[in-house]
Amino acid sequence: PQKDVQIRVYPDRGKQTISKHIYGHFAEHLGTCIYGGLWVGEDSPIPNTKGYRTDVLEALKKLQIPNLRWPGGCFADEYHWMDGIGPKENRPKMVNNNWGGVVEDNSFGTHEFLNLCELLECEPYISGNVGSGTVEELAKWVEYMTSDGESPMANLRRKNGREKPWKVKYLGVGNESWGCGGDMQAEYYADLFRRYAVYCRNFSGNKLFKIASGASDYDYNWTDVLMKKAGSKMDGLSLHYYTVRGWNGSKGSATQFSADDHYWTMGKCLEIEDVLQKHMAIMDTYDKDKRVGLMVDEWGTWWDVEPGTNPGFLFQQNTMRDAFVAALTLNVFNKYTDRIQMANIAQVVNVLQSMILTKGDKMALTPTYHVFDMYRVHQDATYLPMDIIAETKQIRGRNVPLVSASASQKNGLTHITLANIDLDNDQNVSIDVFNTKVGKVSGKILTSKNIEDHNTFDNPELVKPQVFSGAKIENGKLNLKLPAKSIVVLEIQ
Ligand code: AHR
Repeated sequence: PQKDVQIRVYPDRGKQTISKHIYGHFAEHLGTCIYGGLWVGEDSPIPNTKGYRTDVLEALKKLQIPNLRWPGGCFADEYHWMDGIGPKENRPKMVNNNWGGVVEDNSFGTHEFLNLCELLECEPYISGNVGSGTVEELAKWVEYMTSDGESPMANLRRKNGREKPWKVKYLGVGNESWGCGGDMQAEYYADLFRRYAVYCRNFSGNKLFKIASGASDYDYNWTDVLMKKAGSKMDGLSLHYYTVRGWNGSKGSATQFSADDHYWTMGKCLEIEDVLQKHMAIMDTYDKDKRVGLMVDEWGTWWDVEPGTNPGFLFQQNTMRDAFVAALTLNVFNKYTDRIQMANIAQVVNVLQSMILTKGDKMALTPTYHVFDMYRVHQDATYLPMDIIAETKQIRGRNVPLVSASASQKNGLTHITLANIDLDNDQNVSIDVFNTKVGKVSGKILTSKNIEDHNTFDNPELVKPQVFSGAKIENGKLNLKLPAKSIVVLEIQ
């Protein structure tokens, strides 16, 4: 059976730019994200470019990743950056208390991270240690990375082989400071943020964008207190929202789930819009001009780890269901581009809803990677408002639309991304691109026979985008059949 969906896009009302940073990423010293995933070292038999895996590097370059958050996560608030500079043989080892209690040898540190960002041509986003660090420690880290002066930290950097400072814009002042980042109360952290903000200085023309550690999910009080007490001192306030069943007990298998589980996931994922609206309404009361950015610097699915893997490593598979969570969430973020200035899916390689999975010298791109690849056309494009009328399904007490969409314009091209979460029904979609001459249309589609389908190291291309030529121009409108469980991007010339 087929359903009918009406979409009307309003190019004349396009006023705002979708920040490319909404398509951002996150790399933590967690499991095999850094070691084995991004970094293998120059002596590794795995093909590498100055120690970085060449296959992963190339895949991330193709994705045009705009930024990368590092070194955590929870790890950030136990990380002491001075342990990760200088000759590798002298770097002290530590235990990664948050993630599996494994030994961290600090061989991937500040230089390795910032050089990676240069190779990827993306902005680094440094997450500073507030929980177990000091103001002095973070202030010196900023000086080490960004000062070009005759200063102790700049000289130490030069001694370690880097003459010129790096550009570091995004600085997170702690992570989850209400939890693993220090178990603080909002009032206390707000004061602490103000104190850190004083000493994390702008050196040599580098201008920091200071991000306060924000709430998780439904903790609106945290946002309220932070905005009230420190709003005028910050550039951004973070928010974490995971599509997860709960924090106790099983989170469910990443690959074995029912149709009900699929719809539950879509409902939970789309609830982010309601959560965002509530946090943004609070921000609006203190910051009417929307100066402070909302930075959703952790989001994505969180399932049980793959059977047989270290529970502390958060290594999970990634199916078409995850691809939908990415597509739906990005469609939502695009809408609130006047307040949301950045978002970072957790995490880039081998952890939670990753872009890439690696095992030894093998690599597989996940369905989520392909969504990010299809959606990158929205980066820094003008957001086009739209109306959409689609059938809904009752999920978790809400009416959830079966089709979600987003449109943008850049360089004379209009792009529309569409996702049909219905497992059984195609949708007849009619799109009115109001007042726009529709000359030519092309597209790509991501779909698979089963919603549980995913890419493995032995079958890495089971789920991958294909050419989509199903959109037809009829009387100035676009008509297409959007197959069940499919994600499509259209390009209109
Ligand atoms: O992304 C995994 C963890 O989730 C991060 O370290 C932490 O910030 C969050 O709780």
